[in-house]
Amino acid sequence: MKNLKTLIVSILLIGFSVNVLAQKPIYLDNNQPIEKRVQNALSLMTLEEKVAMCHAQSTFSSKGVPRLGIPEVWMDDGPHGIREELLWDSWGSAKFTNDSCTAFPALTCLSATFNPELALLYGKSIGEEARYRNKTVLLGPGVNIYRTPLNGRNFEYMGEDPYLSSRMVVPYIQGVQQNGVAACVKHFAMNNQEKWRGHINVNASDRALREIYLPAFKAAVQEGRAWSVMGSYNQFRGEHCCHNDLLLNKILKGEWNFDGVVISDWGGVHNTDQAVSKGLDIEMGTNSARVKQSVKNKYDEYYLANSYLNGIKAGKYDEKLLDDKVSRILRMIFRTTMSADRPYGKFVSPEHSDAARRIAEEGIVLLKNDKQFLPIQVGKYKTIAVIGENATRSLTVGGGSSQLKANYEVSPLAGLIKKYGKEHIVYSKGYETNTEMYSKKINTKINVDSLLNAAVEVAKQADVVLFIGGLNKNTMQDSEGEDRVAYNLPFGQDRLISALQKVNKNIGVIILSGNAVAMPWQTDVPSIMEGWYLGSEAGNALANVISGTVNPSGKLPFSFPKKLEDNGAISFGNESYPGDSINENYKEDILVGYRWFDTKKIAPQFAFGHGLSYTTFEYSNATTDKTNYKENDLVKLTFNLKNSGKLKGAEASQVYITQIKSSVLRPAKELKAFFKATLELGENRLITINLPVKDWAFFNDKTQKWDVEPGKFTIQIGSSSADIRQKVSVVIE
Ligand code: GLC
Repeated sequence: MKNLKTLIVSILLIGFSVNVLAQKPIYLDNNQPIEKRVQNALSLMTLEEKVAMCHAQSTFSSKGVPRLGIPEVWMDDGPHGIREELLWDSWGSAKFTNDSCTAFPALTCLSATFNPELALLYGKSIGEEARYRNKTVLLGPGVNIYRTPLNGRNFEYMGEDPYLSSRMVVPYIQGVQQNGVAACVKHFAMNNQEKWRGHINVNASDRALREIYLPAFKAAVQEGRAWSVMGSYNQFRGEHCCHNDLLLNKILKGEWNFDGVVISDWGGVHNTDQAVSKGLDIEMGTNSARVKQSVKNKYDEYYLANSYLNGIKAGKYDEKLLDDKVSRILRMIFRTTMSADRPYGKFVSPEHSDAARRIAEEGIVLLKNDKQFLPIQVGKYKTIAVIGENATRSLTVGGGSSQLKANYEVSPLAGLIKKYGKEHIVYSKGYETNTEMYSKKINTKINVDSLLNAAVEVAKQADVVLFIGGLNKNTMQDSEGEDRVAYNLPFGQDRLISALQKVNKNIGVIILSGNAVAMPWQTDVPSIMEGWYLGSEAGNALANVISGTVNPSGKLPFSFPKKLEDNGAISFGNESYPGDSINENYKEDILVGYRWFDTKKIAPQFAFGHGLSYTTFEYSNATTDKTNYKENDLVKLTFNLKNSGKLKGAEASQVYITQIKSSVLRPAKELKAFFKATLELGENRLITINLPVKDWAFFNDKTQKWDVEPGKFTIQIGSSSADIRQKVSVVIE
C-alpha cells in the first residue's frame, strides 16, 4: 500500500514538474495578453537590468534583457525613409551595402495631397522598410506646426494647420505600426525652429498650446495610438521638453492616457532628477561633453544610468517610477519585436516606388498657370530649356537626421528627358550652390555671371523654359540644426529668373523646397509650381505632372507670405522669433498661418489650401440638414461639386468655420474638414461632410475646458482658405 502511495505521489510530482517545465514563462507566451507579459517580465528583471533599459547602449539602440531573451530596442530615422546604418558609437556611416532605401517624398508633400488614404499608404510602405531593416522604432513622423517660413525643419512636418496635420498623421502612424514597428511622433513639443533649438525657452498661451501646437500630437496618440513619442530639445515654460512635467506627465501620460514610451531627442536630457520624475522613459544621445571619456563605458555616465541606479539604491528615487518606465518599454517590445503576428516587411520593393511616385504626383501644387502654360504635352515643343541646379542636384541627401542613402533618385532632368526625349531637352545649370554638405561656406569660386549668361543663351534659343530651383538640404536652407537666414531664394536665383523671363516669356518656375519663398518675379512668369522634396521618384512625378500625364491636385499646407514681415511670428520682432537666445514668446498666439493673414486682412502671395488643377471645379447648393444645432450634434453639410473643365481631376474641398460673435479672440476662419474627390470630365457630385459641432470649440484658458459658445457660425466651403465658394449660416444653441 505504502509503495502504491509513493508511486502515485511521485507520478503526480513528475507530472507537475514536467508541466511546469513545459509551460513557457508568461512573458514568452504569445497567447498571453500583453499586460500580463509585461508584468511577468518586469517581475523577473533585476534592478540593474531595469535601469539599463532606460538609456542608450549605442547611437541608435538601447538594451533589452539578454538573460531573458528580451531583444534590444533598435531605433532609426526618419520620417521620409529608413536611414542608413551608422556606426555603433558615432554618427559615421557603417557603410553597409544592403541598406539603400526607398526615399519617399517629404511630409510637406504628403500633407499637400490632403489625402489621408495616401498617408496610410505612406506609413504602410515606410513601415515595411523599417520592419525589413529590423527596426523596433521609426523616429518619425514629425508634426511640429509651421510657424515661420524660416524654420530649417518645416520640410519634415505637415504644415501650419493643426486639423490638417491631425488628419494626415493618424493614418501614417497606423500604417507604420501595422508592420510591428513603433512610430515615434516628434518633437513633443513647441519645437518650431532650429535656431537655439537645444535650449530656447518657449512661452506661449494655453490657447496657442491647445488649439495650435498640441492637436496633431493628441490625434497621433489618441487616434493613431502611437507607441512612442519623442521629447523635443527646447524648453517650454522653463523645463526641457524631454523631462517636462506639464507636457509629459500631466498632458501626455495623464490627460491623454499615453501608454507608450517617451524617448528623448538625441542629447535632449540634462538632469537625472528631472529625467527620473518628469516623464522620460529612454535617454538617447546624451552628448559626450557630459560624459567623461575616461570611463569604461560612456553609456554608464548617462543621466539615467549609474546616477539613477545609485540613486535608487540610496533610496533617493522610488523604484515604482522605474517600473513604470520599464513597463512602457516592455509594452513597446511586446507590440513590436516580440509580437506574435509581426509581419516580415519589404525593402525597396516596386510597390514602394509606386507609392512614392503617387504621393509625389498628388502632392505637387500648381500655384499659377496663366495662358495654359502647363501641361506641356509631349511633342508640343521642339526645344525645352531646363535650367537650374535643382534639376540635377540630389535632394534626398542632407537636411540632417532625415537624410537618406536612397536606392535610386530620378532627378527632374532625368525624368524630363525620359518623358520628352533627349533631343528635345537642353540643360543649363544657371546657378550653383556649395555642394559640400552642411557647410556654411559660400563657394566664392563660382562664376555667377557666366552661369547666368550661359543659361540666358539657352533660354533664348528654346521654345519654352522650365526653371527648376528652390532651396536644398544644406545648412541654412531646408536643414536641421539651423534656420534659414533669408526669405528670398538663395544663390542669385531671383536675378536669374528675371534674366530668363526677359529673353523668353514662355517660362515656368518650379520651386523644390520645404518652405515658402519670396517671389518678386511672380507677376512676370505665366506658371509657378511648388514641387517639394519628392524623393526617389522626383523626376518621374514632376515629368508626369508637367506633361499632363497626371493632373495636379495638391494644395498648400502652409501660406506663402508676400514678404517675410507679413508672417505673424516675424511681425512681432525678435522676442517672438527667434527669441532673445534665452526666451521666446509666441506673440502671435493662436493666429498662426492663414489664421493670421485672414484675421489681419493681409493678402498672402499664395494662400493655405491653394492649388490649381488642369481642369476647373464649380461649387453650388451648399446646405445643412438643419439650421439650429446643439453642442453634441453633427452638422450634415452637403454641396455640389462639378468638374466644369476639360479633363478628369481631383479637388480637395476645404470646410472652414467662423464664429460670428465670440467672447474671446477667434481667427477669421478655422479648418474643420476637407474632402478630396476625383471627378470625371463633366461629373457633378453631391459631397456630404459631417461636422461635429464640438470640434468648433475654443480652449477656455480660465476653465481649462473646450467651449462651444452659442450663437451664429458661418460654414465656409473653399477651394482654398482665400477662395471661398459657398457659405452656410447655422446657429448653435
Ligand atoms: C536629431 C533629431 C531627431 C532625430 C534624432 C536621431 O537631432 O532632432 O529628429 O530623430 O536626432 O537622429
